[in-house]
Amino acid sequence: MKIAVIGSGYVGLVAGACLAENGNDVVCVDKDPVKVRSLQRGKIPIYEPGLEEMVRRNKTEKRLTFTTALARGVRQAQIIFIAVGTPTGEDGSADLQHVLGVAREIARAMNGYKVVVNKSTVPVGTAVKVREVIRRETTHPFSVVSNPEFLKQGAAIDDFMKPDRVVIGAEDPRSAELMKELYAPFTRTGAPIMMMDCPSAELSKYAANAMLATRISFMNEVANVCEAVGANVDQVRRAVASDRRIGPSFLFPGVGYGGSCFPKDVKAMVRFAEDKEYDFRILRAVEAVNESQKSRLVTKMEAQFGSLKGKRIALWGLAFKPKTDDMREAPAVPLIQGLLAAGATVHAYDPEAMKVARGLFGSKIHYADSSYAALTGADALAIITEWNEFREPDFGRMRKLMRSPIIFDGRNIYNPENLRALGFTYISMGRP
Ligand SMILES: NC(=O)c1ccc[n+]([C@@H]2O[C@H](COP(=O)([O-])OP(=O)(O)OC[C@H]3O[C@@H](n4cnc5c(N)ncnc54)[C@H](O)[C@@H]3O)[C@@H](O)[C@H]2O)c1
Repeated sequence: MKIAVIGSGYVGLVAGACLAENGNDVVCVDKDPVKVRSLQRGKIPIYEPGLEEMVRRNKTEKRLTFTTALARGVRQAQIIFIAVGTPTGEDGSADLQHVLGVAREIARAMNGYKVVVNKSTVPVGTAVKVREVIRRETTHPFSVVSNPEFLKQGAAIDDFMKPDRVVIGAEDPRSAELMKELYAPFTRTGAPIMMMDCPSAELSKYAANAMLATRISFMNEVANVCEAVGANVDQVRRAVASDRRIGPSFLFPGVGYGGSCFPKDVKAMVRFAEDKEYDFRILRAVEAVNESQKSRLVTKMEAQFGSLKGKRIALWGLAFKPKTDDMREAPAVPLIQGLLAAGATVHAYDPEAMKVARGLFGSKIHYADSSYAALTGADALAIITEWNEFREPDFGRMRKLMRSPIIFDGRNIYNPENLRALGFTYISMGRP
């Protein structure tokens, strides 16, 4: 099929590459000329495992092209995906200006029947708004479909190629059939294509993210209670997770959730419920817990040192989670700000996010070339992102490099007993 994807960020680029991989003819459109030039050269501007190879392969096969010319992309496509950002607006709601702006441009470029598919995460009612915007601009026939994306950064290709489910909100048979046909190759392993109305499809994405964020905040509070009463969250988690009604995913305590989705989607869901005079109390609490969890590691450091003034803190992990360079709403950001405000110096290392961090912090922090280089002369190490390379380090070498062997582990990646036996002061989340 002939496809255009508008917006070549995490979602648009992955969707475009994966759709091309299955034989479709895809043009990816972005308004950022620097990004498009780099994609045309086969260089992808983000870190996502496997994506660069897939982009290059499909570019070479001429199934995947990149342009800033939206109108050209639209004219040659039958199905057009909108995959632009929906950031948090001033009042917490999802800012729809990019989505609606793109819808207008699509309408103006139409030259026949088009299916306009909303892949961005958008509040209930957006399909109606997109339909109105397009109708005002064109007399060509079109359908609007809601097709939220559930991929996880760091495993995006796998998630897109082998989804748990595909959710499609389609309100006419013609677009419903086209979408089923498009997704059939991705669901051969038996994953369901769930056909529904647009409001339900739109809400499904928020409800899924809100549930995951709730599990994280819930477990963070359980960990905090463990600290208060002298229990061990590892043991509690194992006992809870073995209940088949609950399951093990998303029950690891830490320094709070981040990224471009959970924080903004939780806020947006609270906000659009509020617009309908519904107070989503659980989600307000989920957000408040997450905010306070982000400062918990600094509080633990202050409790250990008294004052952080003049302390040299090594930081392992800057990205909001492993296998990405994304630092949007990353817990490392408020942590670094807290450390700097308390008078500490920060020597940071991340396997992928150093460039992004430089853009955010400039000369305010130091950037180490390796995890060990960050440790030289450090008064303590704080672990913020659980990259695999941090899991089995040379502890002897670490001890020698650090001024004092103190580890604050925001991700509970080590065994407390082992670390103490090795001579470290080891402070983690919810464990004695
Ligand atoms: N990142 C994720 O893991 C993820 C997962 C599922 C859903 N989503 C949702 O998907 C949407 C996109 O997220 P993302 O992370 O890919 O965003 P992103 O910021 O990485 O990418 C958005 C891209 O759209 C481009 N753009 C903006 N306006 C444009 C316009 N008028 N014309 C052409 N291009 C334009 C930007 O230049 C940018 O490259 C959001 O609604 C997000 O909530 C994201």
